[in-house]
Amino acid sequence: MYDEVYNDTVFDHFMNPRNAGVINDADGFGVCGDPGCGDFLTIYIKVANDTIADISFLVFGCAAAIATSSMTTELAKGKALEEAIKITEDDIIEALGGLPEHKQHCSNLGVKALRSAIENYYNKTIEKYQ
Ligand code: FES
Ligand code: FES
Repeated sequence: MYDEVYNDTVFDHFMNPRNAGVINDADGFGVCGDPGCGDFLTIYIKVANDTIADISFLVFGCAAAIATSSMTTELAKGKALEEAIKITEDDIIEALGGLPEHKQHCSNLGVKALRSAIENYYNKTIEKYQ
């Protein structure tokens, strides 16, 4: 059924999510939940030289939430923090080759969780020097 709704790239990221799991010694993490559907995503990052050296995610959600979370981590990995924070919903949808209209909101989760993971990292770094 899923392969009728989603294109091959989305289906592939749903079936074989990239960077799934927890980073126990993460430098930052961010959580985002969608109260509408109950889907829930956590993103973990490791930072080196102001760059996302490693990233992972755990999601409780629909196929599109899994695929968009997976693609968010792929887009963010290796990027400078100031670039990663600019990743948009459209970037994720475009990288996935499109999502059905009623599933486009699922990409919000990735963007918001990634931004909050980066903010969490910055906050921790500031605390360290206070
Ligand atoms: Fe809706 Fe995060 S609150 S996707
Ligand atoms: Fe909630 Fe996909 S239906 S994020």
